[in-house]
Amino acid sequence: MPDRTDRQPAAAAGALRRALAWQVEAGADEAIGERPVDRLAPATDGGARRAAAPQPDAPPAGPPGRAPAEPQHRTGPVPRPAHAPALEPATAAVRLESTGETVASARESARRAETLDALRDAVAAFDGCGLKKTAMNTVFADGAPGGRLMLIGEAPGAEEDRQGKPFVGASGQLLDKMLAAIGLSRETDAYITNIVFWRPPGNREPSAAETAVCRPFLERHIELKNPDVLVFLGGPSAKTLLNRTEGITRMRGRWFDYRTPDMIEAGGDPVPAMPLFHPAYLLRSPLNKREAWRDLLAIRERLDALAAERES
Ligand code: URA
Repeated sequence: MPDRTDRQPAAAAGALRRALAWQVEAGADEAIGERPVDRLAPATDGGARRAAAPQPDAPPAGPPGRAPAEPQHRTGPVPRPAHAPALEPATAAVRLESTGETVASARESARRAETLDALRDAVAAFDGCGLKKTAMNTVFADGAPGGRLMLIGEAPGAEEDRQGKPFVGASGQLLDKMLAAIGLSRETDAYITNIVFWRPPGNREPSAAETAVCRPFLERHIELKNPDVLVFLGGPSAKTLLNRTEGITRMRGRWFDYRTPDMIEAGGDPVPAMPLFHPAYLLRSPLNKREAWRDLLAIRERLDALAAERES
C-alpha cells in the first residue's frame, strides 16, 4: 500500500489547480462558505448530510431553490442547466490557446455581415464563445434599430437569458425609467445590447477571453447601427470599449471619442460616447442616481445638439 507521504506535492498542487480551473469554467466561481460541504458523505443522522457549521457573519439563507427576481451581477453561483455538457479540465486550456484563432474567425464572420439582421444570424451561428454552452438563448439586442442612442451593458442575466432580450429584468425596468426621464424610449429612440451575447453562469463577470471573442461582433454591431451617441453602462462595458483601466466612478459623465479599429483604418468619424453608472448598481446604491441624472441630461443635450446640427 503506497504511503501518503510518497506523493509528489507538486503533482498534487497541479491536480488541485486543474480541479479549481474546471470548477471556475463550470460556473462555480464564488466561495460561499468557509468550510466545504461533503455531499457524498454517508448519512449519519437519519438522512441529513454532514454540512459546514453556519458562519457567524453568514447572511441568512433564502428559501431553497428560489432564484432572485433579477440575478444582479455577481450573485451566488447557479447550478449548471441539465442540458449543458460537463467540461473537462483540458477543455479550458485548449480554449485559452485557441482564443486568438477564435477571435480571428469571429472577426471574419462579423465583417461579412452587412446588416443588423445578418449580424444577428452570424452571432447566433457562432460557437466560439464558451458561454453559449450554458445559456438558454442568444441575447443580441433590443430596441429601435433606427434610434439615435445605442446603450451597451455587460452581460445578460437570468431573465434576459430566458427571454433572449437584453435588459428585461429589474435593471432593465430602471433603464427604461432613466430613458423616459429624458424623453426617450427603447421603442423609438434607443437600441440596447451587451458586450457578450450569452449569460455567464452564476452572473459572474465575463472573462477576458469571452469578451475578446465577442468583441468583433460588438464592434461590427456599433458600425452597422451607426448611432449618434453611445452609452456604456457600467465599468466592464466602458473599460472594454475604451481600453481603459479606471473605474466607472472616474469615467462616468465624461465624453470620449469612440472608433472601432475598422473605423480608424477607414478614417471614419468618432462617435461621442459616455460611460454611465449601470442601472443594477443604481438599484443597489440609489444615492448615485443624482450623478446619473446629471449624466442623462448631458446625453440628452448632446443628442439635441447633434440633431440641430443635422437640420441646419
Ligand atoms: N445587465 C446587463 O448588463 N445586461 C443585461 O442585459 C441585463 C442586466
